[in-house]
Amino acid sequence: MIEFDSTHKTQAKEHPSFVSYESTVPPRYHFREYNQLVINKGVGIILSFIVPSELMKSHSTPCRRDQTKIKNGIYQPLMPNRIRQCLILLCLAFLTTNLQVAAALSTPRPAISEIFSLHKVHLRGNNPSSPWCYAATIDPTREAPGVKYNFLATQVWPSARTASFLLERNADAIRDWKVCELGCGPALPSLVMADLGLPQVIATDLDQVALDMVQEAAREQAFENLITKCVDLTGEEQEDGYSAAIIEEIGADLYIMSDVFENASVARGAAGITMKALQSGAKVWTFAQSDRAQREIFLQELKELGADEYVDVMEWRNSDDFKVEQFCNHPLMLFDLDEITVNYG
Ligand SMILES: C[S@@+](CC[C@H](N)C(=O)[O-])C[C@H]1O[C@@H](n2cnc3c(N)ncnc32)[C@H](O)[C@@H]1O
Repeated sequence: MIEFDSTHKTQAKEHPSFVSYESTVPPRYHFREYNQLVINKGVGIILSFIVPSELMKSHSTPCRRDQTKIKNGIYQPLMPNRIRQCLILLCLAFLTTNLQVAAALSTPRPAISEIFSLHKVHLRGNNPSSPWCYAATIDPTREAPGVKYNFLATQVWPSARTASFLLERNADAIRDWKVCELGCGPALPSLVMADLGLPQVIATDLDQVALDMVQEAAREQAFENLITKCVDLTGEEQEDGYSAAIIEEIGADLYIMSDVFENASVARGAAGITMKALQSGAKVWTFAQSDRAQREIFLQELKELGADEYVDVMEWRNSDDFKVEQFCNHPLMLFDLDEITVNYG
């Protein structure tokens, strides 16, 4: 079970950029270090070609300790000086590269605000005192070569707004619950739940940038009841093909998913996790736009796994059609939404 330990909060509060620097951070986020590695390699290669030829000019006679082999009465070096010097310099260049990269890796990662332009997105656009999350504008010129940040994970999608308003409307029913959001992105629903004063909110995603944005937003709003966790919905590496074990570890009363079906394997993985959550006695509320084709894969997989018993009708339905009691009577809620009619407050 995930505990809300005070260590996390203290570390989060004290650190200027509110970012943890464990080695588990995905390499794609090591922006400066990656550039440094490329530069160092280039410098190493240039050094190993230019410097040896320069050295050869001043050391044309083999030094004494190399003269180990005699041919026609003349001492021959075992390895020509040029090659030896090249090898030494290559080693030095390699060593320098690694030392510098190690030094760079041990320095703190830049705060996300140094890499992205962040802006606040309020639950109610016209009310600056309503809870908010961060969204990011990614500048492609600042991306490390070969690295793409996930645009989808840094924006607030209509489903997240619908989920947030629905959670707010049902605040009394969920007040004492431990809630976990899966595939949270900027996590507007999680931040709204933290603002409602729920005892424990866990915002999860695979994307470290998204999780950093959530941590930063939680810190600035002084939400100590919210933590983030890296969770992969696909769980392709897992024995059961799902990351279902995470349900036992988190042990939430309610799991929220808003617009997470990015591809078929996420949809299938999400279905496996949903089933596991329902079996554990938890509730699952899923939000998806009608134009998200992968949501049907999710539904199909749920049917195959036997989730029918947890829902009254196995189809996507508008959240306005439900009354509060229904949220508690049916563990599995499948919310459909039309992005044209989404409330922006
Ligand atoms: C369209 S965004 C929705 C973000 C947020 N839930 C919202 O509605 O604003 C899809 C989210 O799913 C996450 N995601 C995609 N594949 C994932 C995976 N395998 N495991 C966990 N999260 C994943 C992405 O990182 C992204 O944050």
